[in-house]
Amino acid sequence: MNEPILEVQHLKTYFYLGTDMTTELRAVDDLSYTLHKGECMAIIGESGSGKSVSALSILRLVSYPPGLIVGGKILFHGQDLMEMDDEEIMKIRGSKISMIFQEPSSALNPVVTVGKQIVENLLRHTSISKEDAWKRAVELLDEVGIPNPEQRVNQYPFEFSGGMQQRSMIAMAMSCNPEILICDEPTTALDVTVQAQVLEQLDKLRETHDTALIFITHNLGVVARYADTVKIMYGGKVIEDGPTDAIFHVPHHPYTLGLIQAVPRLDLPRSHGLHTIPGEPPDMSKIPENCCAFAPRCKYATEECRTKRPQPETVGEGHHCSCFHMDLLEDERNEVVRSHG
Ligand SMILES: Nc1ncnc2c1ncn2[C@@H]1O[C@H](COP(=O)(O)OP(=O)(O)O)[C@@H](O)[C@H]1O
Ligand SMILES: [Mg+2]
Repeated sequence: MNEPILEVQHLKTYFYLGTDMTTELRAVDDLSYTLHKGECMAIIGESGSGKSVSALSILRLVSYPPGLIVGGKILFHGQDLMEMDDEEIMKIRGSKISMIFQEPSSALNPVVTVGKQIVENLLRHTSISKEDAWKRAVELLDEVGIPNPEQRVNQYPFEFSGGMQQRSMIAMAMSCNPEILICDEPTTALDVTVQAQVLEQLDKLRETHDTALIFITHNLGVVARYADTVKIMYGGKVIEDGPTDAIFHVPHHPYTLGLIQAVPRLDLPRSHGLHTIPGEPPDMSKIPENCCAFAPRCKYATEECRTKRPQPETVGEGHHCSCFHMDLLEDERNEVVRSHG
């Protein structure tokens, strides 16, 4: 793969809760990765696993109290974002690194036309003239597949459908040609057809602009076709990561296997039912330091898992997994992979 643009090294973002702020919640606990130009990296995990906090940390959007980045480096082209002052980080936010949030309605200003919002972002971050910014806004809406962009540019967000709001968010996020676009569950609120269209659109943008994508979702199925690499998060940690193909075909963590089984199958009768992972995601403020956070829900768990923290081991090229019992998984894996092939 080509040059790395973002290197996250041992990132730790904790929240300090309770009246005396002594309850430590390790939302992101020792996260490391390298993102390359044009790469699409997916971060997958159930609700509360630390996906959004990991993304917000990169843009330094976690505020104290209660949140604090307590360790690690975030290198953007080798420069540590943690050491930049507010002005420098503001320049990067929205221009070089852009983020699309979960809820378009929360990010789009309801009383400003969609076009004006794109224009304002362009004027803030580039030296383009006002007239050219409006032209560019129309082009951008066209690029993300919004019909009649010349008219649409003068409309308000409420005049757009959910899918079109999502597309205009993409247009806004793409307006300054960011090097990295972070999409935090950009499609959860949308129906499946619209989800597919939005993903298709993001993928096209990646191809034409070589933008690197960090795609956050709780649904492993959504990313199968688009992601180059996948990180599976559980309880604030990456428990397995690797090339998308390896994650789907030779998963090594029982949790990853559970996520694969939870992907809906369109080719089976509905009576077949949906597999869900038993139990609940952990209360993040109550995970002991020395254990596997998944142990309470894992059928392979032993005393070792409850008293020691598994460390990442290399299980294939660029493929790592943190689990004491990955060998035991083999039979089940073969069966699941065969039936989900
Ligand atoms: N502002 C906050 N204050 C306190 N706890 C928070 C805050 N934001 C996130 N958390 C906690 O951090 C953990 C990770 O949250 P988040 O990254 O939003 O999860 P995800 O995006 O994977 O659903 C959760 O346990 C959540 O409750
Ligand atoms: Mg989230």
